[in-house]
Amino acid sequence: MPVTVGVAVAILYFLSIFSFDHGCMASTTPSATERPTRTSAARTSSATGTPTAAVAGRKNPKRGLAFAAELPGDILNVNQTASVISWQYDWANLPPAYLATSNIKYIPMQWGSGSIDRFVDAVRAQGADTILAFNEPDFVNEANMDPTEAARLWMAYIEPLKQYGVRLGGPAVTAAGTGRPWLQQFFAACGECSIDFLPIHWYGVGTSGFYDYLWTIHNEYPRLPVWVTEYADTSDNETEVLSFMNETMRYMDDLEWIERYAWFGLFRPKSGVHYNLLREDGGLNALGELYTGAKTVYTQYIKDTTFEGYKTVDGADIPNQPLVTSWPVYMTASGARPSRWVILGTDTPSLVISLVAISIGSLMSGVYWTVW
Ligand SMILES: *[C@@H]1O[C@H](CO)[C@@H](O)[C@H](O)[C@H]1NC(C)=O
Ligand SMILES: *[C@@H]1O[C@H](CO)[C@@H](O)[C@H](O)[C@H]1NC(C)=O
Ligand SMILES: *[C@@H]1O[C@H](CO)[C@@H](O)[C@H](O)[C@H]1NC(C)=O
Repeated sequence: MPVTVGVAVAILYFLSIFSFDHGCMASTTPSATERPTRTSAARTSSATGTPTAAVAGRKNPKRGLAFAAELPGDILNVNQTASVISWQYDWANLPPAYLATSNIKYIPMQWGSGSIDRFVDAVRAQGADTILAFNEPDFVNEANMDPTEAARLWMAYIEPLKQYGVRLGGPAVTAAGTGRPWLQQFFAACGECSIDFLPIHWYGVGTSGFYDYLWTIHNEYPRLPVWVTEYADTSDNETEVLSFMNETMRYMDDLEWIERYAWFGLFRPKSGVHYNLLREDGGLNALGELYTGAKTVYTQYIKDTTFEGYKTVDGADIPNQPLVTSWPVYMTASGARPSRWVILGTDTPSLVISLVAISIGSLMSGVYWTVW
């Protein structure tokens, strides 16, 4: 009997070591404490409110999100009352769960010719009323399609959505020399296509080149409202990028024939790029705050070599990449997941306390043994 009690006491001591050890590990891992959970972030924001918040529920009907972020949690800073973002897309035809439940209208896209026969079903299954089609078909590194073939695919697989009242966005060509000729050939081959609006992309330095391009497109297709579905100032000077964003947003907000725009884009730092909206930890940087009208309520720091830098999700830039549904929750600097329970940690406090506890445990079972 006393032996059992002694053993039980020893076991209790061991358990206390393990718990201590766990707490100790957590506190010596800085990122763990800097990383609010989803629920605590949500609670904080609703409890305290955001001082700089825009008027509740006021969204900018034109301003959208090109979601190229690395982690599902990266949507959380945009999915908040203060954010003025009203729509989003991620170059895919179905929203992953974290975008579908984000309260931001998702616009599906038929990126290229892949799986195009399933597009109508995907659009109808999610009840979408607007779609985007063919991402940079004039560019070999993107959808890379022949304009005549694209017209044929359009009539077979995109046009049928018209009967369900879906608004159809035309092919989004690049602003490079290949873009407008491609579009002309496409329209020539697709006299029957019902295109409701024209998405375009632009990258460059300075507002004047951007405005010239907008007006060139508008003068060529005056009937079609324009969606700028990717654009950014590629200057190395972050002050210039910020003021470019500031000016162009107001310019497009005021321009009647611009229906929507999406800055490229929502992602974390990438080498040589100065137009990302997120910081290394997923929080909003100065561009992100200006663009969304919100402040950071959530960060999730990832330090792992396989996630270093820029990585696209759900087919953005990498069309054949499988749909990502699960992501690493948290990784240590070495890339290993921290174990939940660490038995006899190697740091000095753990070792000292473990030794003391073992001694006391042994001593007590010894005492009981002797007394009995
Ligand atoms: C977005 O916010 C709403 C509350 O405003 C919440 O119900 C929803 O779960 C959030 N979505 C995600 C993906 O966190
Ligand atoms: C960035 O641009 C601003 C405004 O044009 C200018 O004042 C500043 O000197 C530039 N910074 C650098 C590092 O070139
Ligand atoms: C944006 O432009 C407005 C009007 O010119 C100005 O008041 C504001 O400071 C600018 N914001 C940034 C971040 O440049």
